[in-house]
Amino acid sequence: MRVGDITPEDEVTTIEGLPGTVGQDLHPMQEAWLEEDVARCGYCQPGQIMAAVAKVRQVTEEGRDITDADLDEIRNICRCGTYTRIRRAIKAGAQNM
Ligand code: FES
Repeated sequence: MRVGDITPEDEVTTIEGLPGTVGQDLHPMQEAWLEEDVARCGYCQPGQIMAAVAKVRQVTEEGRDITDADLDEIRNICRCGTYTRIRRAIKAGAQNM
């Protein structure tokens, strides 16, 4: 869905609401982020996690596991250069989603 397609009736999940989607204190992707010690300054991290969850949901709906090519499609910028840890965390988080 594109931002322009959102209607007043749609629900938008933010990073604060993400754990509520699984009824836990933290979403599995957030747990993986902590396990992999991804964050540095933290500025980009909510967007990185939400993009990760969306990408994993997309590939799961397609009936397959996440690949490096899928991870290449996530274009969020991290000025701290945490990309290697982000990719590890996404793969780990995907195992528990
Ligand atoms: S952790 Fe600093 S911008 Fe990504």
